[in-house]
Amino acid sequence: MIPDAAAGPHWHCLSDADTVCAQAAARILDAAACAIDERGCFRMVLAGGRTPEKVYRQLAGSDADWTAWQLYFGDERCLPADDAERNSVMAATAWLDRVAIPADNIHPIPAELGAGAAAQIYAAVVKAARPFDLVLLGMGEDGHTASLFPGHQHPPHEVVHAVHHAPKPPDDRVSLSRESLSDAHDVMVLVTGAGKRDALQQWQAGDDLPVAQITARNGVTVLMDAEACD
Ligand code: 6PG
Repeated sequence: MIPDAAAGPHWHCLSDADTVCAQAAARILDAAACAIDERGCFRMVLAGGRTPEKVYRQLAGSDADWTAWQLYFGDERCLPADDAERNSVMAATAWLDRVAIPADNIHPIPAELGAGAAAQIYAAVVKAARPFDLVLLGMGEDGHTASLFPGHQHPPHEVVHAVHHAPKPPDDRVSLSRESLSDAHDVMVLVTGAGKRDALQQWQAGDDLPVAQITARNGVTVLMDAEACD
């Protein structure tokens, strides 16, 4: 998976959401094998929301060398640590509780402490982890990614942001910055469903959406289903 960074995103329109998720899981396993072979470990940033859940379930069925995986989160909702709406709980339920990955290899954002405190704590974690091998992202119907929302301003060069008044509940969130999400060998964005069509067209037309501001050393790969890209 080595697209040319200068060429902008590499768009892949696939038949349906299941195919997107199957291909995403295969690409993640490939990226992990390469990273572990070259660098001895695989540092991946997980996406939240619903789209990646099927990908995580597929990964739960593979026999990867999980001890070499280090997992981080692109964003988190400021909810109790065991709240079903947390991105960390979704990933644990679909995948991480089902495989032999050491607990110390999973780095949740302590968003239960509140956005400001969690952002400060997680900035040190991110600084120690960058550059990431792979950043997995979703995209909202307004072109947001992680918890970077259109119209929201954040201090430049911040590693992790405290997010307030988010248009997608809950109000308070924590998000890796554009710079942190882009400090990666590869970025893969999953976009499925007719609801994403408008934002996808705006992105492809060159609109300056938050998702469009993410880059990667080897370029950004976008896996879309026909409902989103036709
Ligand atoms: C979140 C996610 C968010 C998500 C998009 C797409 O906390 O909700 O981080 O950025 O990736 O909103 O969400 P769906 O995959 O549910 O459409």
